[in-house]
Amino acid sequence: MDKLIINGPCCLKGEVSISGAKNAAVAIIPAAIMADDICLIENLPCIEDVVSLNATISKMGAKTEFLDKHTLKIDSRGVENVSATFEEVRKMRASYYLLGALLGRYKKAEVAMPGGCDFGTRPIDLHLKGFRAMGAEVTVERNVIKMEAKKLTGASIYMDTVSVGATINIMLAAVLAEGRTVIENAAKEPHIVDLANFLNIMGAKIKGAGTDVIRITGVEKLHGAQYTIIPDQIEAGTYMIAAAITGGDILVKNIIPTHMDSLSAKLAEMGAEITEFDDAIRVNAVEKKLHAVAVQTMAYPGFPTDLQPQMTTLLTVAEGIGKVTENVWENRYQYTQMLKLMGAQINVEGRVAITTGVTTLNGTSVDATDLRAGAAMVLAGLCAKGETTIGEVKYIDRGYEEIETKITALGGNIRRVSL
Ligand code: UD1
Repeated sequence: MDKLIINGPCCLKGEVSISGAKNAAVAIIPAAIMADDICLIENLPCIEDVVSLNATISKMGAKTEFLDKHTLKIDSRGVENVSATFEEVRKMRASYYLLGALLGRYKKAEVAMPGGCDFGTRPIDLHLKGFRAMGAEVTVERNVIKMEAKKLTGASIYMDTVSVGATINIMLAAVLAEGRTVIENAAKEPHIVDLANFLNIMGAKIKGAGTDVIRITGVEKLHGAQYTIIPDQIEAGTYMIAAAITGGDILVKNIIPTHMDSLSAKLAEMGAEITEFDDAIRVNAVEKKLHAVAVQTMAYPGFPTDLQPQMTTLLTVAEGIGKVTENVWENRYQYTQMLKLMGAQINVEGRVAITTGVTTLNGTSVDATDLRAGAAMVLAGLCAKGETTIGEVKYIDRGYEEIETKITALGGNIRRVSL
């Protein structure tokens, strides 16, 4: 069991290069098994979620090989097994993309209900509604979702709630369905566009990804492709906030700056200096007194819920009263208990958290309660006085490539210990 130990406060300065997007990778790997062919996926982040998913598709019969740390060759010609057990999917919510991918290619799938971070109920009714609309028979028995379709037929599907996962899953199944599928009120996150680009290179016909209406004309077959995954919006945002919270100056490189607009605007509103380049953003907070603001999480292009814990942590040390409204997940404030142990003043009521800025946090022993909450603990540790020990690092490893190496290179005092 690993722990991260941080000795703060640290002032982070320098450059950091952002890895490939976790949430794109976990959709693109299942998509690759839809081709009866070979795919080469580049710029994969070197994280636990990718390792787990690779193990799962290998068990299904795909032959996979890492050509280097970030490039995976997937030969899906041997895929025979259309099921994934709970043991295989328990760590990772995104394993539900196997449902859409298998249903599309084999018209059959059997996947255990996914695990992943716990922030309240995480229903998948919209995914199943979409599959049913395309003609699949869906049953859920002892936490296993079983689906079968004699024929998948394109359909018009309206999303009652904007859902990233349902948009992706329906898109996956629809590319190999007969006829036309229209997804209305679709999610617009950058990784949805990335997946659509990958599928289109494989021969799919998808239009409108990145808008709220996606139109898909089914094709008979997909072929292999070579594809480079986009940079991770959330990892980039975490390092931007790291610059702000440590009063530092970081050039966050290898990113798509427009993906960061909602965060850049908030950090600028707080008083940080933001400079945008073609594929980088510099956040300079040296000797800047940051003041608290109000933030609301929303589907893209709104402020991402996956940056909410990191932003709330920043607000706990910004001057004045901050207000955070979590509109996406019903229970994403468990980590605030940990911040309180460090001296933060936060009052949570339902979906709203009110912060009162303190001059400093104090290092202590905390746990990562989920992936992004873990990142928030690292940020808190970096700006806190003294030693912060973070347990349950496995959550952080699910989504952040070499976090301690990147932070050390920026001048942070962080180390990993294995117990
Ligand atoms: C994805 C991200 C996750 C992020 C979330 C919101 C991946 C692998 N994970 O999760 O990191 O926090 O988007 O940006 O990309 N909902 C329903 N019924 C459904 C599906 C969702 O009611 O069938 C609701 C959820 O309860 C939630 C909202 O829709 O309130 C958004 O969820 P969704 O966008 O589906 O999140 P995920 O795809 O699970």
